[in-house]
Amino acid sequence: MKLYIAALLVASASAFAPSSTMRGPSALDAVSKKDSYDVTLLPGDGIGPEITEATTKVLGALCKRCGFELNLKEALIGGAAIDEKNDPFPDETLQQCLGSDSVLLACIGGYKWDTNPRELRPESGLLKMRKEMGLFANLRPAKVIDQLIDASTLKREVIEGVDVMVVRELTGDVYFGTPKGIDVVDGQRVGYNNMIYSESEIERIARVAGDVASKRGGKLCSVDKANVLDVSQLWRDVVTEVITKDFSDVDLSHMYVDNCAMQLIRWPKQFDTIVCGNIFGDILSDEASMLVGSLGMLPSASIGESGPGVFEPCHGSAPDIAGENKANPLAMILSAAMMLKYDLARPEEAQLLEDAVEACLDQGIRTADIKQDGDGCELVGCVEMGEAVAKHVETLEMKTISA
Ligand code: IPM
Ligand code: MG
Repeated sequence: MKLYIAALLVASASAFAPSSTMRGPSALDAVSKKDSYDVTLLPGDGIGPEITEATTKVLGALCKRCGFELNLKEALIGGAAIDEKNDPFPDETLQQCLGSDSVLLACIGGYKWDTNPRELRPESGLLKMRKEMGLFANLRPAKVIDQLIDASTLKREVIEGVDVMVVRELTGDVYFGTPKGIDVVDGQRVGYNNMIYSESEIERIARVAGDVASKRGGKLCSVDKANVLDVSQLWRDVVTEVITKDFSDVDLSHMYVDNCAMQLIRWPKQFDTIVCGNIFGDILSDEASMLVGSLGMLPSASIGESGPGVFEPCHGSAPDIAGENKANPLAMILSAAMMLKYDLARPEEAQLLEDAVEACLDQGIRTADIKQDGDGCELVGCVEMGEAVAKHVETLEMKTISA
């Protein structure tokens, strides 16, 4: 996996930050640029196939414009995989993903599978993919886009200029802890999961977060519930040790998760990079996304120590609008941009995709989720939005990005 944090993470890179190589090997090793890449496409469920098609069209235009190849090969995940293979993440999908340079995922889930036993639910496929591919770090950027400020439910002055990165641990915590289950005790059912983190799991995510923060605004807020939970006390101790020892350029603070949920709405501009465990990150990243106006705009990257990363929108599969040409493909297109940056060493192409998305917003076209009454914009469908992005990819000027 090639997470070239220095060049890629954010425009607000701090010039004084020591390079990650001075800190020893990073979980985010560099990738070399190639003329041709193998990418596994996982369209999944609900609106997944539609947004995948729109994104594929955009990537086709990008390859043509920039003279490189993406060999996109589909595989099954989620409900689609349950229907065909009776397994939400079949082994052949895992093998194909592991053999690729990168993986682009749309979304999974739907009412149809909601009552299945847990191991036959689409969500289990997603969790299995994260675990088996070792994707322990999930980067979820929430950057307010000027053209969409009025799509947020929050006041303009609160969200203008917000640029938060949530670094969520993705393969531990109560999501994967054992023992777990529902038993009958003294004649009543008792349900339980185990919130558990080992020192090494905390250390490796703290290192990724330290890297990310040092290349952004240099501020890292670690979120926990150390006033109540022992697992959070360990989290706080280990994050403090790692950042104090190896990231002296990073300004570390700690916040309880309930306070963080409140502060994100009260004054989000106080945050630069947030690091937290799996369940807190799940909740806070959804909250952070609403600062931006719509979950339909937010990409994410899931990465491991090595091997391909998985790039996917933060939103779900929206089964209520599936097949109606109403979905917003922009989060998946922006996820493809993250893939180009972090896995495929193509930062200029990634920038072109981001610029093309912005050009569509400037042009005044909107899918339903980001359309406001009386905004004077034109309501378009998923297909039209994809075509518009592709058009801009063909014609916009490309920016040079220095390494
Ligand atoms: C997410 C989702 C998943 C999670 C679900 C679908 C299992 O909410 O990626 O945030 O809880 O991690
Ligand atoms: Mg979630």
